[in-house]
Amino acid sequence: MELECAVCGASVPISRSLSWQCPNVSTSDRQHVLRFTAASESFVPSDEPNPFLAYRHLTAVNAFGKAVGLDDATRRDIIHDADAGVARVAGTGFRVTPLMRADRLSDALGFSAKGGVWVKDDTHNVAGSHKARHLFGILLHLIMAERAGVVSWSRNTRPPLAIASCGNAAIAASTLARSANWPIRVFVPVGAAPAVLSLINALGADVVECPRRVDDPPGDPCIHRFRESVADGAIPFSVQGTENAWCLDGGRTIGWEIAAQVTAATFGAPLDRVFVQVGGGAFISCAADGLRDGGVTARIHGAQAEGCAPLARAWQQASNLGVIDDAAHHWSECMWPWEATPASFADGILDDETYDWVSAVGAMARTGGSPVVATEELVRTAFSMAHDFTDTDVSPTGSAGLAGVLQIREQIGDDERIAVMFSGVRRS
Ligand SMILES: Cc1ncc(COP(=O)(O)O)c(C=O)c1O
Ligand SMILES: [Zn+2]
Repeated sequence: MELECAVCGASVPISRSLSWQCPNVSTSDRQHVLRFTAASESFVPSDEPNPFLAYRHLTAVNAFGKAVGLDDATRRDIIHDADAGVARVAGTGFRVTPLMRADRLSDALGFSAKGGVWVKDDTHNVAGSHKARHLFGILLHLIMAERAGVVSWSRNTRPPLAIASCGNAAIAASTLARSANWPIRVFVPVGAAPAVLSLINALGADVVECPRRVDDPPGDPCIHRFRESVADGAIPFSVQGTENAWCLDGGRTIGWEIAAQVTAATFGAPLDRVFVQVGGGAFISCAADGLRDGGVTARIHGAQAEGCAPLARAWQQASNLGVIDDAAHHWSECMWPWEATPASFADGILDDETYDWVSAVGAMARTGGSPVVATEELVRTAFSMAHDFTDTDVSPTGSAGLAGVLQIREQIGDDERIAVMFSGVRRS
């Protein structure tokens, strides 16, 4: 296994520590993204409750640890101990989350007894969303690198972690940082939600408010401050593959879990479609990669809200240009920031660019899926239905994949088996 840039083809050996970005990224050319080439091990469903242990032979971080000289038992212990640290802070470590047929919801949507909607419920995952999956892989990389002595710091001189977020990712990052006693800076916009701020403050994060400065270039000032901090030596503890490709490793656990859950004898028939709400695009990319590894051929649909849908626009552009299968080489023609101020009730997926769009487009094309843009009305309906017809306390962002189902319900057969990702517990 190694890392390879989807855009310029540069390759980076798996043994290289802190290999967050393509070596050809520069301040004037950020359009690069590393991805992991295939693992040498094949997928085997597992009963081990911790997905990072269950599927560790598929993870890049396990290959990294091996390449820097850590033996198998040491790698296993590092994952186990880091997870125990997470459990001390979060009340739970990483555990396979349930995939359950939502019977009342399926009835309300007119599915037959054979078909229906299955909810992958990540609202009880570490820190209340799937985000910690992305970040735990980066944390394990750091711990393994430190243990192997291949980085310039030691336990007492660790550089801080850095993230630009004021939502689920900030909570997950602060939780994991606390679990490992790693210092963290969280760059937040002016006016961030008080409930999130008090949570991440309580977790000991150094919260940095980022007003726009007069000399700032266009774009999000939180990202500018985050990048300055990384340029100063902080670790990009990011859930965007373009800022840190290693977030794309652990994120795959959700796909591996679903693959095991739907291949289990009890599931009966193949899954037909998977809807994933899309913000920056790491979630759909990872879920799709994990499903592919596990042999699941369901169509992948990326759901966005009409108030911010750059992925659907990129798909349209790529198909107009006839480059769906070569999108990486047409970045500027397909992906640019959403011009209008992004707005939706699903406020966690308002990234004005889908950073990980190349692999999102690839996954939808490979599986015969497509992007779906849900109307704002359906984003709200999905949230209400999730609360009326399931027992989860999902957030409006977390139920946005269901809005995608509602949007194209007429095109879906009543016998089809659909999975949606309820990630992100409601806070307020
Ligand atoms: C609950 C929830 N679902 C989905 C997403 C989208 O994930 P991504 O930004 O990786 O596309 C986010 C965050 O952005 C989220 O908080
Ligand atoms: Zn590159």
